[in-house]
Amino acid sequence: MLSSNSILTLLSLYDKKLKIDLYFGMEGELVVAEKTISGTDWRALLGRTIEIEHNYQPVIQGDIPKGLNGVLYRNGPGRFERGTKTKNNLLDGDGLIQAFHIIDGKVSYQNRFVRTEKFLAEEAAGKFTSETWTTLAPGGFLKNLGPPDIKSQAGIVPHYRNGKLYAFDEVDYPYVLDGETLETYGPEKIGSGALKNFKAHTKIDAQNGDWILFGTEFGRVMKAHVIIQGGNGSIKSQFSVDLPRSAYMHDFFVTENYVILNLQPAGLNLFPMMVGAKSFRDALKWEPEKGNLLVLLHKSGSEEPIIIEAPGAWMWHSYNAYEVGGKIIADFIGYEEPDHFLGNEAAFKTIMKGDIGTSNSKGLSRRYEIDMARKTATETILSNQSCEFPIIHPTKGCYAHSKGYTTMGVDNNIFHSAVSSLDFSSGKTDSFDFGDHIHVGEAIFAPDPAHPADESRGWLMTVGLDGKTGKSFLAILDAAALSDGPVATLQLTHHTPLSFHGFWRAV
Ligand SMILES: [Fe+2]
Repeated sequence: MLSSNSILTLLSLYDKKLKIDLYFGMEGELVVAEKTISGTDWRALLGRTIEIEHNYQPVIQGDIPKGLNGVLYRNGPGRFERGTKTKNNLLDGDGLIQAFHIIDGKVSYQNRFVRTEKFLAEEAAGKFTSETWTTLAPGGFLKNLGPPDIKSQAGIVPHYRNGKLYAFDEVDYPYVLDGETLETYGPEKIGSGALKNFKAHTKIDAQNGDWILFGTEFGRVMKAHVIIQGGNGSIKSQFSVDLPRSAYMHDFFVTENYVILNLQPAGLNLFPMMVGAKSFRDALKWEPEKGNLLVLLHKSGSEEPIIIEAPGAWMWHSYNAYEVGGKIIADFIGYEEPDHFLGNEAAFKTIMKGDIGTSNSKGLSRRYEIDMARKTATETILSNQSCEFPIIHPTKGCYAHSKGYTTMGVDNNIFHSAVSSLDFSSGKTDSFDFGDHIHVGEAIFAPDPAHPADESRGWLMTVGLDGKTGKSFLAILDAAALSDGPVATLQLTHHTPLSFHGFWRAV
């Protein structure tokens, strides 16, 4: 942590109209221009707008691995304020695409906001005009009355496929961007257009190249929609099912034959949303006593859903799932409760005011073992490490994996400072902690082209934010030797806000 007498300029934000300096003062106050944030935690920078769209060559420390050639795309919220209004939650802002071009040991960095319909309208108005999933539109309940009209911010997941860079939200269609210039082309329907609310997380079948997408639709009966796009872009399967209950979901599982939805006990109370009193987040109810329901949907869409009970756990993200010997193995990060996200003291809310808030429940690596004959599931905790953002080697998607990679929290809060690996066979872990003044985001795995199917041969790339300098960096680590620390670091000249997810496009 920062010493109490340190006076550090953390960040300078420049644009045509505005210059803002953030300081940790003698008293530890975090000051934003003439506004004072009540709290002192430097991680408030994760929720501060990036005012300039950049394109430059960052300074390289160390040696870029010779086999590492491609583009690392990242996506996450990048604008949290307009006028005097600020988003209520760290997970809520206009999508900022970042691209690290790494070719023959040379690197360039670029970022650009996704020009969504909402972004353009609010740029023109100079204020928030739409409600988002954690923040109601300005103007009180009359402005928010009626069915929720949450606009896409295209700020959660980037995905590159068939020459197109997609930016996903959890509502509406994904936006398509130019993979080289990051210029926004516009939203794109996938499939017949019947599914509009695509979830941000999609899966690739590593053996046949299928792209599996799902979405949900709240209502009197909650529905799920599934689309499977073949490698050539044609639609192989598209179907909808009624779900047994309302549940917010962010990610899912896919195996060779099944799409598996994890209905966590987080239902939606529609009434306060309809009367304009609560945002989507505030209308979620956490009821762990109800347990989770695993809904198994055959990829053909022609079989009745299989519904299996499981212990209650909040899941943001899955590692992967696969079929083996009459069973399905499904690995994920699960929390006893989402105290970092729901409630007034939740860390993702309070950090917007510089307070660390609550995040007592640890994200633990967990495994469902689903017996397909008995229609039962058992849950096993695989590690006591506090983790998030699980990933696997991209050639193992929907099939058996043996290694996973995550971020890790040494201080037992939701803001992580380490990257970690887990060997699912031996239980062995390896990790590197950047220190308590660093926040690191999801680490993306880039396979070593000389060993393309080896789950340990490749590199992890994570974007870090240094609380001492107020600037961000990209760290590249050898996946087989995490504890050795970065082999190369690319220093940015500014901070970057929280970036949820990335995609490695090898070239
Ligand atoms: Fe996610």
